[in-house]
Amino acid sequence: FENNDSCFTFACLQNKNAHILVGVTGSVAALKLPLLVAELLKLPGVEVQVVTTENAKHFYNAGEIPVALHSDADEWQMWKGRTDPVLHIDLRRWADLMLVAPLDANTLAKIASGLCDNLLTCVVRAWDLSKPLLFCPAMNTAMWEHPISAQQVRQLKGFGYLEIPCIVKKLVCGDEASHVAFQRHG
Ligand SMILES: Cc1cc2nc3c(=O)[nH]c(=O)nc-3n(C[C@H](O)[C@H](O)[C@H](O)COP(=O)(O)O)c2cc1C
Repeated sequence: FENNDSCFTFACLQNKNAHILVGVTGSVAALKLPLLVAELLKLPGVEVQVVTTENAKHFYNAGEIPVALHSDADEWQMWKGRTDPVLHIDLRRWADLMLVAPLDANTLAKIASGLCDNLLTCVVRAWDLSKPLLFCPAMNTAMWEHPISAQQVRQLKGFGYLEIPCIVKKLVCGDEASHVAFQRHG
């Protein structure tokens, strides 16, 4: 992906491996999560963890993800009292770069308006804006072309997040020419 230079620069300055936190949401493009993680792990000096929404889990097999995979239940399992660690804070601290791929319409809207009702959106809401956050919108053309998509993408860019633009693919629902990011291999 395009911004790994700044990720590696950041990590090198700290003299450690680059920590990439992948956020995955409930788009059909989440089918590619195992491939995405495998490709990231090929980069030298990279460590990867994944934070998933509950709906994203429909699209991949957790057994195919060879790195730590965090979801909402983990947040509350870890925290029982005031001295316990808070997972979304630990993850935002651990990560040098966050890559939300795919970013579906629902989570795009939530992030644009600051909602944080699950582990992924809490990490994003607490994100350290001095670190890069990349996002790959992925949705059906009908959703993408609604004017609110452009507004919300603009809002995210306004926060300093970097958009990895959509490409056009045929979707499982049969629609022609839908906009889905990062399905470059399938
Ligand atoms: C089979 C299927 C495929 C879907 N694909 C997409 C998609 O590509 N993009 C999208 O924005 N929503 C898609 N959705 C809808 C989202 O899964 C839905 O909005 C969900 O609430 C998202 O939850 P999350 O953002 O918490 O992951 C799909 C739903 C289904 C059932």
